[in-house]
Amino acid sequence: MTDVRLNHIVQKVNDMPVLPSRVNRIIELTEDPDSTIDDLEKEILMDQSLTSRILKLANSAYYGYPRKINTVSQATILLGFQTIKSIVLASTVNKIMTHELKGYALGENDLWTQSQASAIISRNIAKEVKFSNPETAYIGGLLRDIGKTILNYYVEREYNAIVNKVEYGNVSFSEAEEEILGFNHAQVGEKIAEKWNFPKDLVEAIGLHHTPEKSTINPTLVSIVHIADAITMMMGIGIGADGLTYNFSPFALETLNFNAQDLEDFISKSHDLIIDGDSFDLI
Ligand SMILES: [Fe+2]
Repeated sequence: MTDVRLNHIVQKVNDMPVLPSRVNRIIELTEDPDSTIDDLEKEILMDQSLTSRILKLANSAYYGYPRKINTVSQATILLGFQTIKSIVLASTVNKIMTHELKGYALGENDLWTQSQASAIISRNIAKEVKFSNPETAYIGGLLRDIGKTILNYYVEREYNAIVNKVEYGNVSFSEAEEEILGFNHAQVGEKIAEKWNFPKDLVEAIGLHHTPEKSTINPTLVSIVHIADAITMMMGIGIGADGLTYNFSPFALETLNFNAQDLEDFISKSHDLIIDGDSFDLI
């Protein structure tokens, strides 16, 4: 590991595009208790592809609404501000997360498919444990591995060293990344989330999704994203190179009050959620 490489990685994070101003504006509106459905509709209507995604989701079987939703304002009432925020963010990051990542043995779209699964599972765990904002959990699950898009370049070059470390050093893939590259993909993701001015609990959930026991801000959110990530990997969705070294953290299980039976039930429930195409790949 050299300082030059550490600086390069930080530089690459700095070079990441900022979120488009419309996306920031929509996120602000969804967070502002004084904003109205009209305010949000006006902003969404300026983006045609976003408008069609929102209408498609509102009309999907996932929401099971009996009548056709024709307008963004009807969709906003049905879906709620927080879900609108998730859709807007997901449709923005999907451009970054669909590329092939050779360092992680992830083909084109694999990271994206996996991230959507992890997002949906996170949201469902959040609802199950009555977490106050399930959409924050959704976004945490969606973005937990975004650091891989930057670290990929370095992992690819040091692939043999990392895999050797995992195999003979009895460490996880992310620990091997940290030892050999100076950063693991969760820490790089945390830097991206900071750059995008995400709330502190979300930044933490991305940064600690492999080490939830280090949480100091919101252990419940971190634990939700960690468990959802491990379930996604266990289910073998776009598993990639690091997929076989995942374990459920005892800290996270305890924080969510999950026993072995709960976990088993949740894994089978997650499977049903993911094979339901209507709740999936809508972005
Ligand atoms: Fe990860």
